[in-house]
Amino acid sequence: MHTAKSGCANCEGEIMKRNPFKFGVVVDGDDFCDRGREIEELLSDIKSGIHVTIISPRRYGKTSLIKNLFNRVDFAQTFYVDLMGITTLEAFLSTYTTAILTGLGKRKKVETLVRKFLPKVDGIQITLGTVGFSLRIAPTANNVEEVLSITERLDKPVIIALDEFQEILNIQETDLLAILRKNAQFFKNTILIFSGSKRHVMRDIFLNHEKPFYRFSKVLSLGLLDKGEASNFIKRKFDETGFDIPYELCNKICDICSGHPFYIQYLAHILWNTISFKSNKLKKVCTHQDLELATESILIGERAMFELVWDSLTPIQRMVLKNLAVGKSAYELKISSRSVKRALENLENLDIIEKCERGYRIVDPFLKIWLVRMSAGR
Ligand SMILES: Nc1ncnc2c1ncn2[C@@H]1O[C@H](COP(=O)(O)OP(=O)(O)OP(=O)(O)O)[C@@H](O)[C@H]1O
Ligand SMILES: [Mg+2]
Repeated sequence: MHTAKSGCANCEGEIMKRNPFKFGVVVDGDDFCDRGREIEELLSDIKSGIHVTIISPRRYGKTSLIKNLFNRVDFAQTFYVDLMGITTLEAFLSTYTTAILTGLGKRKKVETLVRKFLPKVDGIQITLGTVGFSLRIAPTANNVEEVLSITERLDKPVIIALDEFQEILNIQETDLLAILRKNAQFFKNTILIFSGSKRHVMRDIFLNHEKPFYRFSKVLSLGLLDKGEASNFIKRKFDETGFDIPYELCNKICDICSGHPFYIQYLAHILWNTISFKSNKLKKVCTHQDLELATESILIGERAMFELVWDSLTPIQRMVLKNLAVGKSAYELKISSRSVKRALENLENLDIIEKCERGYRIVDPFLKIWLVRMSAGR
């Protein structure tokens, strides 16, 4: 094990440094790069009372964006509700109420809200303990609406983020979407931020004129990181930990990852580890070879996942995907254009590809590299 006291070559004479690149967790503050424009836009919208919807592929940084946005909000109380994995109305109500009560923080505030709220509703039991509270909810015809409007009883403006909002559609007992829409249109105090990564489902909820949430919110499609900002971020993190990385390599990391926030952090993390294990006698400088090794290491680590995706596809979807990976149009394939169109639609619904200016692109940059190699027989 490498520790400051172990006396190994890597650690001698220096305190073991922490890898500054984080992935798989929500990042904020110094670990959060760019998105200044999006945060300003979101701040301005919610200040003006506009509900917003954030849509992006997985791991583009929606949750991190919400956290960093909330760090900037001083004009309202903020609440974060994670709807991931919710399948029943009871679970929804419990998660929602818990998030609001927990988000209030101070016991006094919780007590006040519970006092205002409880007498109005049936089927809910909240017991306040010395620390925290316990909650039991049985959905009834009217307590759903009461729970959804609970923040309207607070005397301060409120912003609620409903993350992984598409999960609400798993709930079969009632049309929660319609009930939420019906209540939210009368909110005076509460602004909603909806966020989700199942893009065709989110688009259907918010952009389909036959659905209750059509035109209810302003939709923000969260994109990739800006190359300049991301390169500066990588450079700064290496510099701060005493490692030398040429700016050109920072750019190369962004190119390999096509600006994908999760992969930029992942690749930079592996590269940083590679450098940190270089002998202390050598200056800790990143080279092209180090970056190649780090890239290989990710491809090896992700291979099982890519194989799973590949195995789940139909033969036509595979052909289409391979063509896209090597930069050819899927319509060059010797199969009917109807079949190609259907395969493209299905791949898009699976969030494997997305529309871009030149047609379609593969969302996951490492899946693309893996496919290119497979096509070349490597
Ligand atoms: N602005 C950013 N700056 C630096 N890293 C980021 C940024 N946004 C996202 N990341 C990286 O991407 C990872 C995923 O971020 P986050 O969980 O916020 O994305 P998400 O879109 O909510 O993902 P999911 O769809 O899985 O819920 C983070 O752990 C971090 O490594
Ligand atoms: Mg998230």
